Amino acid sequence: MAGSHASVGGIVAAGGVGERLGGELPKALREVGGASLVTRAVRALLDGGVTDIVVAAPGAHLDAVRAAVRPVAFPAGGSVTVVEGGVTRQDSVRCALQALGPRVEFVLVHDAARALAPAGLVEDVIAALTGGADAVVPVVPVTDTVKEVDGGLVGRTVDRSRLYAVQTPQGFRRQVLAAAHAAAASSDVTDDAGLVEALGVAVHTVPGLPEAFKVTRPIDLVLANALLAATPVDV
Ligand code: CTP
Ligand code: MG
Repeated sequence: MAGSHASVGGIVAAGGVGERLGGELPKALREVGGASLVTRAVRALLDGGVTDIVVAAPGAHLDAVRAAVRPVAFPAGGSVTVVEGGVTRQDSVRCALQALGPRVEFVLVHDAARALAPAGLVEDVIAALTGGADAVVPVVPVTDTVKEVDGGLVGRTVDRSRLYAVQTPQGFRRQVLAAAHAAAASSDVTDDAGLVEALGVAVHTVPGLPEAFKVTRPIDLVLANALLAATPVDV
């Protein structure tokens, strides 16, 4: 039940327009397998054990996002709130942070665009936090060879063996995330761990998953639909 118990809160960054994806609707409202990306992202957090969720949505689409998350059944005492996001992802996360309830001790920040991230990944991130980490991110090894390019010419090949791509949900002790956002200059840092690193806080890692890929371009919607056709995930 709702009360003064510490809880795991979630922020769903859904405030972007989805310029690279294109289309009429903001990306978070685009559907895969019959449910919107934001609906699926909220569902994954709840299934993984997050109880109090704030969704940052585009200002012009608040009602549509509220309608999209309404059917998601959440546990007694939990809540899903939709607030207006900001111009950048960093702004959107800051807006959502301000709306998190007081009992929240740990926060997972998740991209609506990573709608197929499995609940098991959410559980792994929470386990790292309750195990003592102040910050934790899912990472996957980079599989392509990576080069620096300048003016169309290759500068050098980067050693790939130490490079990882970072996913969400990213988990934080609430005070750590709040302090990082309070200290951050207004910029467009694309992940919250980057702000926490700037404070000198150790950021731990857990293995990421291919299913937690970010829907960014039209081909990613094709991939998401194909994945769901192979392994349907109800919401
Ligand atoms: N996001 C947000 N607020 C913004 C910008 C982005 O909450 N002002 C969210 C997006 O909704 C998305 C996540 O951050 O779930 C990751 O960002 P990205 O994939 O870049 O989404 P968009 O910014 O919407 O896409 P694009 O950059 O192609 O316009
Ligand atoms: Mg963007």
